[in-house]
Amino acid sequence: MKKIAVFASGSGSNFQAILDVVRTGELAADISLLVCDKPGALAIDRARADRVPSFVFQAKDYLSKEEYEKAILAELKRYDVEFIVLAGYMRLLGPTLLTAYQGRIINIHPSLLPAFPGKDAIGKALAAKAKWSGVTIHFVDEGMDTGPIIVQERVKLEAKETRESLQRKIQRIEHKLYPEILQMLLTQGDVIDDKKTRAY
Ligand code: GAR
Repeated sequence: MKKIAVFASGSGSNFQAILDVVRTGELAADISLLVCDKPGALAIDRARADRVPSFVFQAKDYLSKEEYEKAILAELKRYDVEFIVLAGYMRLLGPTLLTAYQGRIINIHPSLLPAFPGKDAIGKALAAKAKWSGVTIHFVDEGMDTGPIIVQERVKLEAKETRESLQRKIQRIEHKLYPEILQMLLTQGDVIDDKKTRAY
């Protein structure tokens, strides 16, 4: 069973969705570690409730991104983590993690990339009066939500769409799609080979 780490910064509802399908046996993975950069985040409580170890840090306690990513990397090695799942982790990854886990890091983003990258994609879609938005799952590179896309699913914005209603629709998709794609990637033996991941 592949050992995965989930990185989160906030509520961790996607982390919870992944935990739930692991518990039911629908997803064959071992969630070995939660990495969280926000002490007090709800994601940490979710990990504790499910007995998943967590590594919690604050970037300001380190001299640089390289320093805190080295600390994360040491934890990932300690738990033999093979695959990284970003689930609302609101930081760009640097070369320390990208090199160590090349082709083995995925992210979920609440828009149809390349539209509305970065923070508050839902607010940006509403402000732009977009007719469609959605969810993107992609491999992670050094850019802001720019890596090769694995899958996208659309949602239509209604005339009376609010932030709450759009967020609800998007999260419903995220919580179903992320575990499904994870299952697909983890059961493909060649996912570890970063040359082949580009073919998805
Ligand atoms: C999710 O909607 C995810 O797509 C988004 O953060 C939310 C985290 O929610 N990620 C990004 O915007 C990444 N650029 P959660 O903590 O409840 O899973």
